[in-house]
Amino acid sequence: MNNEIGIYIHIPFCLKKCYYCDFISYQNKDELIDKYIYALCNEILKNAEILSQYDVSTIYIGGGTPSYIDAKYIKQILDTIYLLVNKDKIKEITIELNPNSITEEKLKLYKESGINRLSVGLQSNYNEILKTIGRAHSIEDFEKALNIMNKVGFDNISVDLIYPLPNLSLDMFKNTMDYVVNLKSKNIKHISIYNLEVHENTKLAFLLKEGYLSLVEEDEEYEMYKYLNEILPKHGYNRYEISNYSILGFESKHNLNYWNQGKYLGFGVNASSFFGGTRYKNETNIEKYIDDILSNKDIIIEKEEMDLLGLMKEYIILSLRKTAGLDVNDFKLRYKKDINDIFLDDINELITEGLLERKNSNIKLTDRGLEVANIVWERFI
Ligand SMILES: C[S@@+](CC[C@H](N)C(=O)[O-])C[C@H]1O[C@@H](n2cnc3c(N)ncnc32)[C@H](O)[C@@H]1O
Ligand code: SF4
Repeated sequence: MNNEIGIYIHIPFCLKKCYYCDFISYQNKDELIDKYIYALCNEILKNAEILSQYDVSTIYIGGGTPSYIDAKYIKQILDTIYLLVNKDKIKEITIELNPNSITEEKLKLYKESGINRLSVGLQSNYNEILKTIGRAHSIEDFEKALNIMNKVGFDNISVDLIYPLPNLSLDMFKNTMDYVVNLKSKNIKHISIYNLEVHENTKLAFLLKEGYLSLVEEDEEYEMYKYLNEILPKHGYNRYEISNYSILGFESKHNLNYWNQGKYLGFGVNASSFFGGTRYKNETNIEKYIDDILSNKDIIIEKEEMDLLGLMKEYIILSLRKTAGLDVNDFKLRYKKDINDIFLDDINELITEGLLERKNSNIKLTDRGLEVANIVWERFI
């Protein structure tokens, strides 16, 4: 049995809250940074026994904006993990960055600390749009940051984009895609392109509702979808998950572990974990998280022990996110059951509807299924 586990670290601080974002991240709590990292390292140490039972294969430092805080804290977190795990087993360590918080010194320290993958949030290559969505950086900041990443020797860089965005026309979007693929030689090996989610209670939701901003119509959004799925593969970026594209061999190992229903431990405020068939979620209030850790209280606020049927359904949904889909032999190995004995009717109906297809021992979303994956998920919830 696979003994690997991933680690997720949540850093909930940002220079400025973007208008669309509903992640747990704060723009005015810098006074908590030092205490928070101390608490987070404590949480890691408290999990020494669990960690000693596994091989940590990936670490993902996300946020928030991990690059916003002093790099010494990132080193402190990684050094704490290294005390407890076999460092040689770690294959990938990713950190999320914001273009305006990158310096050569910071990146050098990241490299010395073992980080080998950078994920930078660009979202758009138009300064006026970056401003419209409340981003604190410019396209010039991004280009400068990309040059520093290359200078310091990072060769595995991922870029995040979002579409559609307010005031972004189809032509502008095409230009964004052209812009990004033309940066391939700067070690951009991976592109995540997310469909905009408008979350209640965000500034963006307010601006759209009140008519201050608007998004393109659905048919134009579909043209954007078609364009990105044309141009990315043409430049060698293979779609391996609904929103993720990479040069072959540069898929995110950490995220693939999620989609393969692998084990992971999450540390920090609002972080979640999955191991032993149970899902856990940490305290969501940062002050309470710090206080509880430091006074030795439990910070887990949700614990869901999943039953076999729940695990199997979740496995199907997670694996179908990958374009390779689900291997029926892997399913059998994992659950000692034949997927066709339990879900044959659902699978066949989805095949008839043109949303799923079988290829060798795999079941995967069709092109149409990739467009309307939610309809497929509903069948397995
Ligand atoms: C934690 S952020 C990445 C690092 C850094 N905080 C930044 O924004 O540059 C993760 C990514 O999620 C995506 N994202 C955040 N909110 C989103 C939303 N409402 N809809 C779609 N994508 C979103 C963005 O592409 C963002 O880069
Ligand atoms: S910088 Fe990233 S985490 Fe912070 S508010 Fe913006 S999208 Fe959210």
